[in-house]
Amino acid sequence: MRMQYLGHSVFYLEVGEHRLLIDPFIEGNPLCPFSLKELLERGISDVLITHAHGDHSSNALDFAKRGAQIISTFEIANYLGAHGAEHAVGLGIGGRGHFPWGSVLLTPAWHSSSFPDGTYGGMPTGLVLEIEGQRIYHAGDTARFGDMHLIGELGLDIALLPIGDHFTMGIADAVESLNLLRPKLAVPIHYNTFPPIAQDPAEFERSAHLHGFHAVAVKPGGWV
Ligand code: NI
Ligand code: MN
Repeated sequence: MRMQYLGHSVFYLEVGEHRLLIDPFIEGNPLCPFSLKELLERGISDVLITHAHGDHSSNALDFAKRGAQIISTFEIANYLGAHGAEHAVGLGIGGRGHFPWGSVLLTPAWHSSSFPDGTYGGMPTGLVLEIEGQRIYHAGDTARFGDMHLIGELGLDIALLPIGDHFTMGIADAVESLNLLRPKLAVPIHYNTFPPIAQDPAEFERSAHLHGFHAVAVKPGGWV
C-alpha cells in the first residue's frame, strides 16, 4: 500500500490493483499538483468522501462516471447515485464497510455537511481505514472532541488531521487531539489552500514533537 497527498484533504492510495481517492477536490484546488484528466487516467476504483462540502466532494461524479465506486454516508451515496454514480455505498456513523482492499469505519466529526446546492449531506464524518494491517484515521473536517479517545483506542498508525483553523480545528487543538488519538504518525491537512486557512505546518510539527508525538507535513504530490 502507498499513499500520496494531493493537497487540502485529498489522498490517493494504491492497494494492489485498487486505486482509492479520498475527498476528491481536484479542480479549483490550487495545491493539487495533478489535473483532473491526469487523475482520471489513474483508473480510480473507489472514492471515499467525508462530507458533502464542495472542497471534499466536488469531483466525485467525474470519477464515478468512469466506474469508480462511491463510499460515504447514506445521504451522500443517495445524492451522488441520483446524479449519475452507478455504484454508491452508503454507510452510517459507527458502521464499517468491507471491501476487497480493506475496510472503512465512519466516525463522528464536529462540522456540517451540505452540497453546494444546499442539499443536506447527512452527518459529517471521519474515516478509519484498515488496509494491509495499517490503521489510518482521516479526520475529515472537524473540531477537537473528547470521543477522539475512542478512535485512538483502535490503535492508529497514521492520523490525518486538519490544522487550518477557521472551518476546522487549528494547530493548537490538533496538537491537543494527539493526546486522545495517540497515532504513530500525524500528518496535517486542510491548510494553505485558501487565505482563511493559511497555517505554518512546521509549527504543527514542532508543537507535536514537544508533546511527544511524531508529525510530518507532506508536500502535495509527496508520498506518506
Ligand atoms: Ni467542510
Ligand atoms: Mn473543508
